[in-house]
Amino acid sequence: MELHETNIKEIITRLSLDQKLALLTGKDGWTTVAVESLGIPSITVSDGPHGLRQVEQIVDGREVIRKAVCFPTSAAMAATWNPSLVCQVGKALGEECQANEVDILLGPGTNIKRTPLCGRNFEYFSEDPLLAGELAAAYIEGVQSTGVGTSLKHFATNNQETDRHQISTEVDIRALREIYLKPFEIAVKKARPWTVMCAYNRLHGIYCSENQFLLNDVLKEEWGFQGIVVSDWGAVYDRAKALKASLELEMPFKDRSVANLKEAYQNGEINNADIDTALERLLRIVFYAARNRQKRVKVYEADRHHTLAKQAALEAITLLKNETQALPVQKNQVKKLAVIGGLAENPVIQGGGSAHVQTDKVESPLFWIKELAGEEIQVDYFPAYMSGQPAIAELNQAIAGAQTADMALVFAGNRNGIESESYDRAAITLLPEMEQTIIKVAAQNPNTVVVIQAGSAVDMTAWIDKVKAVVFNWYAGQAGGSALAEILFGMANPCGKIAETFPLRLEDNPAYATYPGNGHASWYAEGIMVGYRYYDSYHKEVLFPFGHGLSYTNFDYRDLKIIPESAAENDEVTVSFMVRNSGKMPGKEIVQLYVRDRVCKVLRPDKELKGFKKVELQPGEEQPVEMKLDRTAFAYFNSSLNKWHVESGEFEIIVGASSRDIRLAGSVTIRGENDFS
Ligand code: BGC
Repeated sequence: MELHETNIKEIITRLSLDQKLALLTGKDGWTTVAVESLGIPSITVSDGPHGLRQVEQIVDGREVIRKAVCFPTSAAMAATWNPSLVCQVGKALGEECQANEVDILLGPGTNIKRTPLCGRNFEYFSEDPLLAGELAAAYIEGVQSTGVGTSLKHFATNNQETDRHQISTEVDIRALREIYLKPFEIAVKKARPWTVMCAYNRLHGIYCSENQFLLNDVLKEEWGFQGIVVSDWGAVYDRAKALKASLELEMPFKDRSVANLKEAYQNGEINNADIDTALERLLRIVFYAARNRQKRVKVYEADRHHTLAKQAALEAITLLKNETQALPVQKNQVKKLAVIGGLAENPVIQGGGSAHVQTDKVESPLFWIKELAGEEIQVDYFPAYMSGQPAIAELNQAIAGAQTADMALVFAGNRNGIESESYDRAAITLLPEMEQTIIKVAAQNPNTVVVIQAGSAVDMTAWIDKVKAVVFNWYAGQAGGSALAEILFGMANPCGKIAETFPLRLEDNPAYATYPGNGHASWYAEGIMVGYRYYDSYHKEVLFPFGHGLSYTNFDYRDLKIIPESAAENDEVTVSFMVRNSGKMPGKEIVQLYVRDRVCKVLRPDKELKGFKKVELQPGEEQPVEMKLDRTAFAYFNSSLNKWHVESGEFEIIVGASSRDIRLAGSVTIRGENDFS
């Protein structure tokens, strides 16, 4: 990041103490303080992450939110496994910020999905740190290419909403480094966000907003972060301690904040250097943001963004199950289609809370299903379940409709109020009325297909064996309706894969025993064994493994080459292989590269994702895939040495279509340069 070289130090000398302290806190909810006499502008921030959520005005104490394009949420974007697409979405978001005079977009969120219960999982990418980090970096690169800044959040270990203002996450140093900090490390080093937003919770007893180790030692000193730390809204509990820990900007404005800082200054708790160092960093970002306004466009192309949102949805929608090739719908076999469930007409396209985007352009899947069915298929719609009311009559109509149809398409999912900021999900099963609808419909129609709209893993055990196919629609944003219909009718080939394991039941989740803690602390007793690292290491049966997603075509893998066969830890290892589309439809395959450390003095997961690529192939086409592995692919964080360490030995290189669909395997021998073995 090339920061503005205004004579910031000189400006600081001309500020009074009161002006300085005022600058370190927001002016209101969304802007910073300006000092016009010295040419210091105010900058504007706004939520994020999957659309611009900008407060347009306050009417009778209520926020009026500006209309914007609602892209697929981060969980859906992660299922694309496509950094360049995420980058394009980031660019579009940046343009919407430009047009609305927003300097910094408050996203992306890259916290690890420790438990499927976390209410904000829809806002986060993955249970895997590499995937989460790479996608966060792509998002940041996209937004910032437009001259709009980002806020990488929530730093760190904000993995549940329950008690988020109180709990201390008690996580061992190795898991902290390998799992929870890693996505932030990747995104900070690769994409240089202008700001990082601290989390609400405490880490090892110290609030993240006051955490020297996090904000200063790791983020700034170790990773070389040049931007500023912004508090989450209301995450500053003691402003002086936060300043000491190098939190530059408290948001939003709080009555006592400046007075508290002044008292702390007078008591000697903070000194001139603390204030001036923070100000210098803050003003560099403020001037840099202001200078970037030259790049601003006045209007953004809403239609183009809608099309991009659709393209992202097309790549996100994940085909989880497809027995007897029930999908795509064959027009010569399906003459009568029963579409069941209110979510077909009024889909849930996102979760709730500060990320909730206001849009008036939501595509109805039902509309698009009817469009694409055309004259050849009779489509009958049955809402079946009503929100919060027993809907026996409606359900009976749906069952009757399913009986005479060639296919029953049931829509279910986590409707509004289930996945949100501020609270976690109570369960990972669908609402009973939705499960009942699926079960009763499937009992009448052997050709039942289920579409799920949700932002996180769903327990499907009650009904999965009774249905032919399951399409995970995610919270697919405003253009998810036509994208889904195109996939159902085979006009597009599904190419999403889940970026989080779907366990059979909640109790199987490694965090189950310790979540949500006791209100004061949450113990991450599972350590590094998060997500597939746990399920695969302990051979636990799962509903769908990490990285799983089907296609209407098939892909074959061959010819794995690992060069060199033996390397020093700082050498680059090149892994290459061929992938072929052996089916009849063009398609995209997400190839995944995992590394397994066979023998190690410390516990290591069965396998860890160290590379991935999305490859587009025409029927019969074959393409080479190449991925490079550096030291980080083999290292683990050694807590005694307090650093990343590579242990000499043989590492398996595993190429898969998911973490459990392994297609190729080989090995490389690595010489750890400082090995103490
Ligand atoms: C959320 C942040 C958000 C901020 C501003 C907080 O409650 O945790 O993610 O950016 O509010 O709306």
